[in-house]
Amino acid sequence: MKKILFKIAGKSIPIIIGDGICSKASISKYIDYKDVAIITNTKIAKLHLKNLEKYLKGFNVKVLILPDGEKYKNISSLNKVHDFLIKNKFNRNLTIIALGGGVIGDLAGFASDTFLRGVNLIHIPTTLLAQVDSSIGGKTGVNHKYGKNLIGSFKHPMAIFIDTSYLKTLPQKEYISGLSEVVKYGAIGNKVFLKWLNKNSKLILARDSGSLIKLITNSVKAKVSVVQKDEKESNIRAHLNFGHTLGHAIESSLNYKGISHGEAVSIGMLFASAISVEKSDLKIDEFNLIENTLANFSLPVRIPSSITCAKILQNMAYDKKNKQGKINFVLLTSIGSCGLNDHISDRYILGLLKTFQS
Ligand code: NAD
Ligand code: GLY
Repeated sequence: MKKILFKIAGKSIPIIIGDGICSKASISKYIDYKDVAIITNTKIAKLHLKNLEKYLKGFNVKVLILPDGEKYKNISSLNKVHDFLIKNKFNRNLTIIALGGGVIGDLAGFASDTFLRGVNLIHIPTTLLAQVDSSIGGKTGVNHKYGKNLIGSFKHPMAIFIDTSYLKTLPQKEYISGLSEVVKYGAIGNKVFLKWLNKNSKLILARDSGSLIKLITNSVKAKVSVVQKDEKESNIRAHLNFGHTLGHAIESSLNYKGISHGEAVSIGMLFASAISVEKSDLKIDEFNLIENTLANFSLPVRIPSSITCAKILQNMAYDKKNKQGKINFVLLTSIGSCGLNDHISDRYILGLLKTFQS
């Protein structure tokens, strides 16, 4: 078991990592009163709800099971959560437990910040992506028809339980999707880590337990270190959006169906790396290392042919990083070093998008 203390906004949030670390003793320590609301979805409820309920014996526990999928990460689902909390007459002594991947975490996190102006939250992330990224850093939110995560807040939990035993039921496609955000940490901040990912891809794909703990711990440390320096994304936190300018536009262009967040980010990272070679000094061998690592993990790097480049460009205009109407990219100057760039013309973007279409 590993414990990382995430010091943020005057709080010290324990991030507990290990195989089988969720238990009655470990979780109940972070619940201040009797009332607990578990928010999860149909798929995760079938697999993991019973055990969590066992750990919460003695508490007044109510469960809301939402439909599964990114397309349900919207205001209407948030309303459902609020309705459920209000109908159950919960008060400010409530603790919400988000049991799920990034969709449930972002949605339940937002509900915990907005219900009665804020109640306690615990994250129990069940996908690799949520364990290495979305459960950490306090970003919550829902999608809007014009763009990803356009409505949300910053809300930190009381504790984060990264229990790798949940990954045993995670389909390989979703596991690989999570690896995309892991590659991101290497590309933007740690060349040694990226090389390790590249060299050990077979062990990682086989979910070798030592490799898994190492990649999760390195990723969590990378995220914590960036967010501790810039909680509200005034500067360097935006670097965590490497690959997301195109990634988010692909997701919204597809109405959040048919592609996972990690897959869309993978395409976006190679796209941003290609721009980086031409406009920001990234060396070809560094581009190749990124491309090769994504390929080793069988992550996609081509834009689905069902979307037009014009539609993608149009949706990039809603990206949260944009300022004064200009599309902002996170570009690499080398592996491990990056910055924001809003000098890439629409014409250039459109031309490059065409070369990325499958
Ligand atoms: P997800 O939550 O949709 O989970 C992926 C799939 O795996 C779903 O079908 C889910 O039901 C299933 N699943 C979850 N845990 C499982 C388990 N243990 N066993 C079997 N199936 C399981 O998607 P995700 O990839 O976890 O998260 C993507 C979301 O995270 C996006 O909405 C993205 O915007 C958000 N995100 C947020 C942040 C942040 O900082 N808040 C960072 C990165 C991504
Ligand atoms: N995943 C981007 C961030 O947390 O800022």
